[in-house]
Amino acid sequence: MVDGDFSPGWRERWLLWRNSWLSDPRFQRWSMRLPLLRTTAQRHANAMFGVITGFVYTKTLTAAVDLGIIAACAEAPQSEAELAERAGLAPAAMSRLLAAAASIDLVESLPGNRWTLGQRGAALANNTGALAMIEHHKLFYTDLADPVAMLKRGRGGGELARFWSYAEAAGRGDPAAADDPGTQAYSALMAASQPMVAEQVLEAFDFRGKRKLLDIGGGHGAFLAEVAAQHPDLPLALFDLPPVAAAAKGVLAARGLERVEVTGGSFRDDPLPAGADVISLVRILHDHDDAVVTALLAKVHAALPPGGTLLIAEPMAGTQGAQAMGDAYFGLYLWAMGSGRPRTAEAYRAMLQAAGFTRVVERRTGVPMVTRLLVATR
Ligand SMILES: C[S@@+](CC[C@H](N)C(=O)[O-])C[C@H]1O[C@@H](n2cnc3c(N)ncnc32)[C@H](O)[C@@H]1O
Repeated sequence: MVDGDFSPGWRERWLLWRNSWLSDPRFQRWSMRLPLLRTTAQRHANAMFGVITGFVYTKTLTAAVDLGIIAACAEAPQSEAELAERAGLAPAAMSRLLAAAASIDLVESLPGNRWTLGQRGAALANNTGALAMIEHHKLFYTDLADPVAMLKRGRGGGELARFWSYAEAAGRGDPAAADDPGTQAYSALMAASQPMVAEQVLEAFDFRGKRKLLDIGGGHGAFLAEVAAQHPDLPLALFDLPPVAAAAKGVLAARGLERVEVTGGSFRDDPLPAGADVISLVRILHDHDDAVVTALLAKVHAALPPGGTLLIAEPMAGTQGAQAMGDAYFGLYLWAMGSGRPRTAEAYRAMLQAAGFTRVVERRTGVPMVTRLLVATR
């Protein structure tokens, strides 16, 4: 589809010329031989093969986690025979898997046919958020088995959508859904992956001098618990769907955080609690379509005092160096889930301005792939 009157500019002419060269096998062979071009050509070829074969590495990782290799090697070096027995695999199968896992730096061999963790394995071993994601991705992987069918049938309709519908049904108060393992898994996933996000936000934004923070869609309070640890005197409030809010009360009390004011309600239909001069939306907006986001931003604007602050923390589309995370991973994830879309910081900036926010600045986070942070002032 061509929008409006359109004539190809210099960029389009350059891209077509470049692509005609890159797709020519003679140019490919020639560039591999020419010393000046060889390094760049090899880098591009390696990256392309990484994309073509990436699913094998993901599955190697899944097997290494599921068969307890990462957990066992995190405790102490293991012999190949011990690992095979623990996993219920024939020695030849374990040997093949370990070689594959070593090639992607999950494990490393030691003398005597023993194994310890590789650099990536060591970084993963205690990262409960990443481990929960690996488990959760089994659902996404089922939907992606036929990506064309997934795109043709429209948003949702697969395993991920089913998983999220449990969470939504639990949110609406359906007791069957609340007890469902799918819902439990959802809450566990969110809580396990939250510290990675909270750490980035707390490094990038200073809550000192603020009167009260309201976290909308705060789940079981994992983000507020991290804020409370750094700001013991900052009044805190959480707003989430009634059954989630009820569960949050218990979780927060168990962590000694009875001081967090918890309100149950829907940001679609109910008024937001008043009195906060900072409101946070952590991993909320990308789950929702534009109409819901537009209405929510207007509601947040109305709930804040003049000069009040809104924080939007989530991974975003078009993130330098992490485009694939925003546009490929979250783009397809949210498609499979059935609602929302990854947005660029610029898209949020425009929506925030339309909602009446006067100033929107981005604070740099340490790992923008995990979350970016927009700070909007009413
Ligand atoms: C993706 S989770 C994020 C949870 C938490 N902020 C985090 O980053 O871990 C989305 C949260 O929004 C809540 N939520 C969804 N729809 C909502 C609504 N209409 N009103 C209030 N909360 C809602 C969900 O219950 C869930 O806790």
